[in-house]
Amino acid sequence: MKIFTTKKEIAQYFTHKENKIVGFVPTMGALHQGHLSLIKQAQQNSAEVACSIFVNPTQFNDPKDLEKYPRPIAADIAMLEQVNCDILFNPTVNEIYDDNEKWHLNIGDLEHLLEGEFRPGHYQGVTQVVYKLFSIVKPDVAFFGQKDYQQFMVISKMVELLNMPVKLVMCPIQRESDGLAMSSRNIHLTPADRSNALILSKTLNWVKYNFNADDIPALKQQAELMISNQPGIELEYLEIVDGKTLHPATANTKSIVALVAARAGKTRLIDNMLIA
Ligand code: PAJ
Repeated sequence: MKIFTTKKEIAQYFTHKENKIVGFVPTMGALHQGHLSLIKQAQQNSAEVACSIFVNPTQFNDPKDLEKYPRPIAADIAMLEQVNCDILFNPTVNEIYDDNEKWHLNIGDLEHLLEGEFRPGHYQGVTQVVYKLFSIVKPDVAFFGQKDYQQFMVISKMVELLNMPVKLVMCPIQRESDGLAMSSRNIHLTPADRSNALILSKTLNWVKYNFNADDIPALKQQAELMISNQPGIELEYLEIVDGKTLHPATANTKSIVALVAARAGKTRLIDNMLIA
């Protein structure tokens, strides 16, 4: 695997290449099978696969969360080598950002809905860094997880607004065998948090299998109760929405997604499930 830390190295590498399809998987590291599933999907759809590991400071609204974000770079490199990833881009913060850089993209109400409400400014940081990474790596196709459903919508919106020549692919959520959605933050869970957190995927499954288009508010209320009744879990939101707009689903909505965010102890977790 080629490891690059500067924009210049990446640019030089790609000037010597013919027109191969480049697939790109941006990450913040602390890699798990969820990330590796994106690399595998990228390998099936592109001639060369680049992964980036960059813990992006501008998307963290809580400085403590940024500070304690795991950074096991040696283990990450070993995992990428094992799945035969071609390129790793692992820049420093100074390589990506100048001092006092400003960024604002009008992403409409995606900015304030769901994650936007609980993590103000988060998606400005995400679009800022993904714009930069796309401009550096210049991928033909980029792969993102359904795990961050709203993030995928926000990045799609950016690509459309800025007319960026990249195709986006959404890849399914990888879960532990008991249903917990894989996440780099799961290592912060105590054994009790870890077991309490199972209520999130259990509730989403319950919504899926008890879905009744005629009474979505009752379903939502019941699901909220299931989570609120779980000791050690603090619900932020559970919403049953139109998968295209993220506005509350109605009896006529075609694609429906249930999304949840909650704290298990000190750790913030998100999960979602396609319902219809
Ligand atoms: P990170 O949280 O490291 O996630 C990198 C990619 O892996 C994202 O597309 C995310 O949706 C996907 N992913 C995470 N957990 C997954 C799971 N259990 N199953 C499938 N895919 C999963 O998302 C980010 O980093 C950052 O916001 C980033 C886009 C890199 C910008 O900084």
